Amino acid sequence: MNRIFSGIQPTGNLHLGNYLGAIRNWVDLQGEYECLYCIVDLHAITVWQDPAELLASTREVTAGLIASGIDPEKNILFNQSQNPDHASLAWIFNCVARLGWLNRMTQFKEKAGKHRENASVGLYAYPNLMAADILAYKATHVPVGDDQKQHLELCRDIAQKFNSDFGVEYFPEVEPLILGPATRVMSLRDGRNKMSKSDPSEYSRITLTDGPDGIAQKIRKAKTDPDALPSEVKGLEDRPEATNLVGIYAALARKSREDVLAEVGGQQFSEFKGGLTELAVSVLGPIGEEMQRLVVDTDYIDGILRQGGTKARAISGPIMREIQEIVGFVQP
Ligand code: TRP
Repeated sequence: MNRIFSGIQPTGNLHLGNYLGAIRNWVDLQGEYECLYCIVDLHAITVWQDPAELLASTREVTAGLIASGIDPEKNILFNQSQNPDHASLAWIFNCVARLGWLNRMTQFKEKAGKHRENASVGLYAYPNLMAADILAYKATHVPVGDDQKQHLELCRDIAQKFNSDFGVEYFPEVEPLILGPATRVMSLRDGRNKMSKSDPSEYSRITLTDGPDGIAQKIRKAKTDPDALPSEVKGLEDRPEATNLVGIYAALARKSREDVLAEVGGQQFSEFKGGLTELAVSVLGPIGEEMQRLVVDTDYIDGILRQGGTKARAISGPIMREIQEIVGFVQP
């Protein structure tokens, strides 16, 4: 049976990049697989989090996922700290993974920057926890974006080394699920940078709760170049902003860029932006409204997460007992 695990950071203000890059794919995968979708609060605290903000963000992301169409009854939706098995297995993996492997992780180098000595031990061991997230459920498939591919490779290495250290065929080969093409949503202010919640400019990103006016304003102000839109994809070359806006349009409309350009080729950006705004509002508007309705009902949201935690523990519990036996721990 195919089982999916994926995680999302509890950072407030979910934006179009999160939606098109991850969330919508998660929605599409339900029904086809048994899905565990996890809000990774343990990963979040590898860098400082204000406790009140962490709590609010966890609820916000949960509301965003449900509003986007993730059905918490059919899938397992929970925050990571609800299930202590993640942390226990991560400890075992801290003892399986090698320092040399972690030293090669480019995300740690980027996040720790020049202040490596001052980074938390957790930030360094982050990929081991991610491997534990996946393998505590013996997940077979993991949808990830480009930036997480190296971590997924490490997960495979850990699984293999565990199997060979203990002489077992225990952990399965985890397969990445490579998501559709137009998943890299770039900043509206600079088509060469990824859309990100840490960009100081609000105008760089469209959030799920911007509402029709906010969406319209941000698209109106989005950077463009002076030329009309081309009618073929090769006409987008060296035009990062045009590439990004056409990519966003195509992703929102679930069409290929070729098909979009066949329709809009020759338009000026002013006209194209009108169509893009209408499309973005039609997709994101209802999601934002539902998200705002849900997020204030903290009892409901927390209940969903607890129920998800219970379902998650029911799967990982028996797996952890087998792992403990393999490692040589007395059963609890
Ligand atoms: N590290 C992932 C990110 O930052 C989130 C994540 C945590 C994850 N655990 C995971 C993704 C397990 C896939 C599988 O986006």
